[in-house]
Amino acid sequence: MRKQVLKWKQKGLSVALIPTMGFFHEGHLSLMRAAGSKADHVVVSLFINPAQFGPNEDLNHYPRDLEQDARLAEDKGVSCLFCPDAKDMYPPGFQTWVRVEGVSQGLCGTSRPEHFCGVATIVAKLLIIVQPDMAIFGQKDFQQLQVIRRMVRDLNIPVNIIAHPIVREPDGLAMSSRNIYLDAQEREPALSLVQALRLAEKMVAQGNRSGPEVIQAIKNHIQSFSNTKTDYVFLGDPESLKPRREIVGETLLALAVWVGKTRLIDNILLKQ
Ligand code: PAF
Repeated sequence: MRKQVLKWKQKGLSVALIPTMGFFHEGHLSLMRAAGSKADHVVVSLFINPAQFGPNEDLNHYPRDLEQDARLAEDKGVSCLFCPDAKDMYPPGFQTWVRVEGVSQGLCGTSRPEHFCGVATIVAKLLIIVQPDMAIFGQKDFQQLQVIRRMVRDLNIPVNIIAHPIVREPDGLAMSSRNIYLDAQEREPALSLVQALRLAEKMVAQGNRSGPEVIQAIKNHIQSFSNTKTDYVFLGDPESLKPRREIVGETLLALAVWVGKTRLIDNILLKQ
C-alpha cells in the first residue's frame, strides 16, 4: 500500500482515503464520488475492526459482501480497495492503543466505552499506512468525526479531515450498513429518529431555545412508537461535545435509539 501511494506522490498526484467496514451503500458511494472530485487517487480501506466492537455487539454478524463491494468501488473509479487482515493489523504482541479523552466520552461513548479507542487506533494506523493527503468521513457518526479530528490535531498527523453530509434513504432514514438488520415492521419505528430531528428543528424555528423541552419532545416522539428504546438524546457544542441547556448558535442534536435489536444513530446541526 505504502509503495503504491509513494509512486503516486512521486508523480505529484494527490490521494484521498475513505476508511470503511464495507457492505457499501449509497452513503459510501457518495463518499467515493466526493473523494474522486477532490483527489487524483482514491483509496478505500475495508476492515471490520474487531477492536471497536464490544463483547455483546455484532462483530460476528456484521454484514459482508466483498465481491459486491469490489465491483461497486471499481465502478466508482476507486484506485485501490485496501483490505488488510486482522492478524496483520493486530499481530501477536500488539499493545499500543490511541485513546482520545473528552470527545470520546458521553453520547455513544457511554454505552460503548471502548468503541472510540478502537476507532481512533485503527484510523491512526490506516492514516500512517496509507499517508493520504485527505481522509473523508460521513457526518452520521458525528462523534467519531470529532474524535478523529481531535486525534489528528493532537498527534500532528499531516492529513486533511473532510466531513461528508449524511445520505438518507428516500423515506429519510440515515443510510447505514446496519439498516439491513431492520425487518419490515421495524422500518416505521426506525423513522422515528429522523422525524424527531425534524420536530426539534421545527421547535427551534418557532423560537424554542430550551434544551430540556426539545429533548423531552424527542423522547416522547420516539416512545410513541412500539419496539423503540432511546439510548441517548444529546444537545451540545458540535466541537467539544459538551452539553448545552440552551440552544444558542450552532448546536448539535444527536441521538441513538434501539429499534428491536438494532441500534441506530442520527444527528442534525440546529441553527438559530
Ligand atoms: O465508520 C466506520 O465505518 C468505522 O468506524 C471506521 C471509521 C472505518 C473505523 O473502523
